[in-house]
Amino acid sequence: MKALVLSGGSGTRLRPFSYSMPKQLVPVANRPILGHVIDSVRELGVTSVAVVVGDRSEDIRAVLGDGSSHDVDITYIRQEAPLGLAHCVRIARRFLGDDDFVMYLGDNMLTGGLSEIADRFRADRSDAHLAVRKVDDPRRFGVAEVDSEGRVLRLVEKPEHPVSDLAVIGVYFLTAAVHEAVDAITPSERGELEITDAIQWMVDQGGDVRTSVHQGFWRDTGRVLDVLDCNRELLAGLKPRILGAVDPNSRIVGPVVVGEGARVTRSHLAGPAVIGAGAVVSDSVVGPYTSVGDGCVLDRAGVADSIVLEGAAVRGVIGVHSSVIGRRASVTDSPVTHRRTLFIGDDSKVEVHG
Ligand code: DAU
Repeated sequence: MKALVLSGGSGTRLRPFSYSMPKQLVPVANRPILGHVIDSVRELGVTSVAVVVGDRSEDIRAVLGDGSSHDVDITYIRQEAPLGLAHCVRIARRFLGDDDFVMYLGDNMLTGGLSEIADRFRADRSDAHLAVRKVDDPRRFGVAEVDSEGRVLRLVEKPEHPVSDLAVIGVYFLTAAVHEAVDAITPSERGELEITDAIQWMVDQGGDVRTSVHQGFWRDTGRVLDVLDCNRELLAGLKPRILGAVDPNSRIVGPVVVGEGARVTRSHLAGPAVIGAGAVVSDSVVGPYTSVGDGCVLDRAGVADSIVLEGAAVRGVIGVHSSVIGRRASVTDSPVTHRRTLFIGDDSKVEVHG
């Protein structure tokens, strides 16, 4: 089996972070979402991976390289415009050949529960096998109507009036039968070649399309709150490791990673938490469920349940909670009483009390 990982697209819902980096590279537990995706593919035993990239392809190549650090071989396929998930399958035809493959959306995070679905797909020899889950608001997803054995009867992309609460999540096990389908369909109203339409075409032609309910953790990381959920989930399984310097006046409780070259002084680190390489943490309280990126500076800061990206600084500000702070951003206390000075990028969100 091969893998097709989709990492093009625009990521408008993940603004402001997606202005300066592809949304798939937003870090969770200090590693890009896409890195977690490639690891998940590798856990299925797949080593031949194509990554579809758009206009941010250089950033993605810089992070994943040839795949050797993930023990996979990566081929990059350039998509000129985000013309849809089925379009990605079309342009990957030469790479995929007639092999079975797993199509994995590069902004979806799953932990656990996938290898069972892969095994079922390998054993059943159906034309396609989709991972699905019950969701509260199916209107944000592709929605599957299935029979009592989980065979797909109908698939609709982001329906206004969903007929079921079973969402198609970001992992699709496909056979070469999908190629005729992606060639047969035309663009949807939003101008995309939808994979849901291609799979519906397979069903209409009498194809055997099955579903399995995914049991592990899953988030489509389209929104900032989902990214924070993923951060919590991944940190919950953190293995502690102290590589940097922690002074005797600091206290560490629970699983904490302190990266190489990081310095922690007079601080309280409440795990799970990860402090990136070269970060400097002084007189601060950090965690739980907090990822602090490489080279960050936290001084007299209190940060919990948050992600602080590479090179950012928090000085003299406590009570930072459920927050994502962008790369090289600076949050500081004001030298002037009752004054707040804000240089905030487009689509940012700031909540201030009092
Ligand atoms: O998250 C699950 C949902 O993902 C499914 O329920 C939907 O049926 C499916 O269409 C998809 O919906 P989204 O609106 O979330 O898709 P999005 O545009 O976010 O794209 C998913 C990934 O694929 C993302 O990493 C970007 C990439 N992509 C997307 C398009 C449209 C490409 O590489 N090329 C594209 O042309």
